[in-house]
Amino acid sequence: MAGETILSIEGVSKNFPGVRALKDVSFDVRAGEVHALMGENGAGKSTLMKVLAGLYRPDGGRIMHKGEEVDIRTPLEARDRGILLIHQELSLSPELSVAENIFLGSWPTKGLGILNKRKLNSDAGRVLDALGCDFRPTTRVGTLSIARKQMVEIARAQAFNASVVIFDEPTASLTDTEKEKLFSIIADLKARNVGIVYISHKMNEIFEITDRVTVLRDGVLQGTVNTADATVETLTRMMIGRALDSFFTRARSNFGAEVLRVEGMAKKGLFENISFSVREGEVLGLYGLIGAGRSEVAETLFGVRRADAGRLFWKGGEIPFPTPRQAIDLGLCLAPESRKEQGLVIGMGGRENITLPHLGLFSRLGIMNRERETQVFTRYRETLEIKTTGPSQRVGNLSGGNQQKFVLAKWLCNKPRLLILDEPTRGIDVGSKSVIHALIAKLAEEGLAVIVISSEMPEVLGVSHRILTMSEGAFNGEFTGEAMTEENLIDAVSRHRESSSSRRARTAA
Ligand SMILES: Nc1ncnc2c1ncn2[C@@H]1O[C@H](COP(=O)(O)OP(=O)(O)OP(=O)(O)O)[C@@H](O)[C@H]1O
Ligand SMILES: [Mg+2]
Repeated sequence: MAGETILSIEGVSKNFPGVRALKDVSFDVRAGEVHALMGENGAGKSTLMKVLAGLYRPDGGRIMHKGEEVDIRTPLEARDRGILLIHQELSLSPELSVAENIFLGSWPTKGLGILNKRKLNSDAGRVLDALGCDFRPTTRVGTLSIARKQMVEIARAQAFNASVVIFDEPTASLTDTEKEKLFSIIADLKARNVGIVYISHKMNEIFEITDRVTVLRDGVLQGTVNTADATVETLTRMMIGRALDSFFTRARSNFGAEVLRVEGMAKKGLFENISFSVREGEVLGLYGLIGAGRSEVAETLFGVRRADAGRLFWKGGEIPFPTPRQAIDLGLCLAPESRKEQGLVIGMGGRENITLPHLGLFSRLGIMNRERETQVFTRYRETLEIKTTGPSQRVGNLSGGNQQKFVLAKWLCNKPRLLILDEPTRGIDVGSKSVIHALIAKLAEEGLAVIVISSEMPEVLGVSHRILTMSEGAFNGEFTGEAMTEENLIDAVSRHRESSSSRRARTAA
């Protein structure tokens, strides 16, 4: 029944070596509600949900499901009880098909343990159709976009008739259209009396879709309130203990020489005719829907991908497209979007992750200077307010937002001349976002050229001096000054691609 408590956590605690992640936390989910879970990076949100989903055993407290005390020991047990966690960092097997992933651990057999592929695919096909997915059950998951991978996880929740579905920062990599689709799926789940837990750092989403909000700070429950009674200010105060002004910091405009210029860069099937330049001290925003090709452009400049055509000029002189190693040596760095796949070595400590690509800076005659490494680690831990127990804590054990901060630290310590930031505040909490925006401004004022790729309109509008819009693999608009408005950006990316000859700069007088 709607409004009934399906699942509750009573006085749960969870410790990790050196970290008290949860202290005596109580929390409940009702049928047919969307319950937000908020808190700073490292507050314990993902940990609490992993306890519910059978990934962590709590050190104390109990979990009640439909009125009885339960012991959820594995994710499969949680799933069989109807509790499904859609992970912050998605947890699918890329080499398996969509259908195999949806029914992982309970594939249908024809007897004698032989996989019944036809049934597997038709069952999966039914769920995918119901969700309106545009890919096939036999597709290999590794080839899907993040939004589609997320749909596979949601399909899993549907297939197992979940009564509680937990979304851990689900919109971090979604475009607006994809987000609207997700929200309508959440509305459907809600209408079917599913209890939904929704973790997000985005205030507008909290007010748009949630009914109640629970806030954690440093593993301690700060309270649960009705969303209708809350405001951005009250929630911020609950999360970080103080109010926050939500102004963006834009660097003072003081541009120097051109650092990078690209002419006619193309990569078959990804983008074409990419031409632009960026100067010292300039923050250039790259706005577009996810999938427009922005990350691919960045990866090509950094040498992760090979361009098919085009010319590259570095500080005025033409150079061949670099390899990543050459790019780093030039001072052209890319802080990538996906920290798990490209950004960090999760088995290593934070200190090593920062210094790894720049060993030359930290060694002499092949001997590492540990002390300098530790100094740099300490400096970035302070500037970026990274929550970690020490230089050797495995970054894989850090919260999502704190991992993202290490990705930034790693590229900053090289003192680059051009820094490309791909979704720099993805998964970052409200307080730390302004820290990162202020840092971008400071770096630009020190003469660094910065390219910020962001799908968050307020962010790209707030930090950039100039914005290029991109859709379907081509640039289709350029905005500066008063022409940098939401309407103009939306208009540019939704308009069908113009040919580059008709591209004109819309510059405010
Ligand atoms: N497996 C683990 N081993 C050691 N420490 C861990 C582990 N998992 C989480 N922690 C620690 O527990 C604390 C809470 O982390 P958690 O991932 O729950 O934060 P979060 O609220 O989800 O933050 P974010 O918003 O950044 O995702 C952090 O200090 C983190 O480093
Ligand atoms: Mg988390």
